[in-house]
Order: sequence, then structure tokens, then C-alpha cells
Amino acid sequence: MALHIGSIAPDFEQDSTEGKIKFHQFLGDKWGVLFSHPADFTPVCTTELGRVAKLKGEFDKRNVKVIALSVDPVESHKGWVSDIEETQGTKVNFPILADADRKVAKLYDMIHPEANDTLTVRSVFVIDPKKKIRLIITYPASAGRNFDEILRVIDSLQLTDSHSVATPVDWKDGQDVVIVPSLKDPAIMKEKFPKGWKELKPYLRMTPQPNK
Ligand code: BEZ
Repeated sequence: MALHIGSIAPDFEQDSTEGKIKFHQFLGDKWGVLFSHPADFTPVCTTELGRVAKLKGEFDKRNVKVIALSVDPVESHKGWVSDIEETQGTKVNFPILADADRKVAKLYDMIHPEANDTLTVRSVFVIDPKKKIRLIITYPASAGRNFDEILRVIDSLQLTDSHSVATPVDWKDGQDVVIVPSLKDPAIMKEKFPKGWKELKPYLRMTPQPNK
């Protein structure tokens, strides 16, 4: 069954560099980022895993657990992790799923046979504390992802959940946001947005970011 935004993230059990992972149990009540790699010992993936390790503090601040996947066995991952540490100057501080049997890759539709019939593409799933998929991004194997963008979208999703706002084009944390169109009652709006708002059109109302 195809996974969409709003689907419940399928649960699974799989080996990893940190032992057996039961996915839902691993996530607990936190947000999650599950991201796949074409294979071990590949150059772009090596840089991506180093970058995610360096951003671990940023994911922690947002209550997010990160977990990578590559379709090779644990022993291979362990050798690769040493290379990542050596070349990227950081320890890999999150688990890498050893999906040699492609169980998780198939469950999450990470193999796109017309790109490559055995390797995974670069998929990213952001999962909320209710285990709902909130973001799906797919990149080709040749393009490394931008993990600052993934943090930016997590900020946006968390702000939407807590404050009834959406975020406009190219929004960055701290900038003005959009009041969701479904919110129309001025009394509730005054309560939610005490700093006020600008109504450019009845459907386009900008307000300072409420949690700043
Ligand atoms: C990589 O992961 O580095 C990679 C994979 C496929 C094509 C090019 C690069």
C-alpha cells in the first residue's frame, strides 16, 4: 500500500548499528526522521551521515529522533561508520538500519525500480508523535539532501500544531507567519495572536511568529 502524508508510519523490527530496533518503540513519544541511502561506502551518503551527526543537537532541541537506513548488513555499516568518522570529523550518533533483506525499504517504497531495481533512493519521512507521516521527500541517488531544509519543515510542522499558523514561501524561524484560513473568529484570533495581524486579503493574514 502506498504511503502518503497522513498515513500511519508502518512499524517494523530490523537490525541496526545500535542493535535490534522496534521502530515505534524506538520513536516513543518523539518525532522521527527516517532517511534512506543507496548503499554503504558511497560518497554522497558519507557526507550526509556526517552532516546529520553534526546536526544531532538541532534534532534533539526539536524532540526528534533520527534513524538512517542502508541496504547492507551491520558488519558493513560498522566499517563505513569508521570511514564517516575519519572523513567527516564526527561520530555517528544515531542508528543506521541494516536493511540487507530490504524489508523496511519495501515497506516504505524506498526502491524505485526504474531508477535502480536493488538500491534505495534517498527518501525522507518525517513522523509525528502520533506516528503519522507528516512529510515525504524523495531525492535521486546523485543529489545529497539539504538537512537544514528538513529542520526548517519540522519547525513549520511543529508551529502549525501548536499555534494554528502556516508558514509562507522560504519562511525561516523568527519570520512572520500566515494565520490558517479556517480561523475566522476575531475573538479567537485576538486571543491567539495578541501581537496583532495584517490582513492583506481576507485569505492572507500575516502575524509575527507567535512563539517568539
Ligand atoms: C552516492 O551515494 O554517493 C551516490 C550514489 C549513486 C550515484 C552517485 C552517488
